Amino acid sequence: MNRSLTNVLFGGLGTGDRDSEDMEDIYEGKITESSAEEIVMLMETAQRVVIVPGYGMAVAQAQHAVAELVELLDENGVDVEFGIHPVAGRMPGHMNALLAEADVPYDKMRELEAVNPTFSQTDLVIVTGANDVVNPKANTDDSSPISGMPVLNVREAQSVAVNKRSLSPGFSGIPNPLFAKYNTSMLFGDAKESMQELVNQYKDAAS
Ligand code: TAP
Repeated sequence: MNRSLTNVLFGGLGTGDRDSEDMEDIYEGKITESSAEEIVMLMETAQRVVIVPGYGMAVAQAQHAVAELVELLDENGVDVEFGIHPVAGRMPGHMNALLAEADVPYDKMRELEAVNPTFSQTDLVIVTGANDVVNPKANTDDSSPISGMPVLNVREAQSVAVNKRSLSPGFSGIPNPLFAKYNTSMLFGDAKESMQELVNQYKDAAS
């Protein structure tokens, strides 16, 4: 007993006691949950949107829904691109291969070095199924297993929407302070269902 809600919900996660404590410190009282409708409202006023896919997009096979979302944004005159991290997913070129399969034009796929300088001029980043590749701990925590790994600096954008099913960690097993940032909102759910929901709501809003 005497455990906080976060500890009860997430206490079994992470790679050890230290990670569980970290998780509680980082997330407790600081997580903002959003609905698809709220994210669509941000999409409607955005001039530039970057989509960051990760391993969860592959698991969910969400690439076709994501591709449709990008096509719709593009048709509405939004400057929209993908931010692709070189180790996103579980094999080299994983994201590029999935997006190519969904007929995403190559000129929409921007690599880490090219996209990072653009986040500060980006209105909205939609992260779907990615975690470690957007974790600022790589730059701020020398003891972290991802210390020194270049990451996508999505936190520099005006707003960040993170879609995943829970607050569970990714491959490296560590919490992600991005999820607790003031300009981040969490869209909890399976990537394919959530991206399809964004597509449907965005179409409804436009009609
Ligand atoms: P990860 O950090 O592994 O995070 C993936 C996230 O996807 C998880 O936190 C998980 O959260 C979410 N997820 C899983 N299934 C989902 C679903 N159906 N719908 C929505 N979200 C889902 O992924 P990343 O950011 O792509 O980073 C890749 C990691 O793998 C790096 O640490 C990298 O070093 C490592 N790695 C890469 C490679 C290559 S070559 N690419 C090879 C080996 C290892 P929930 O459970 O909360 O949904």
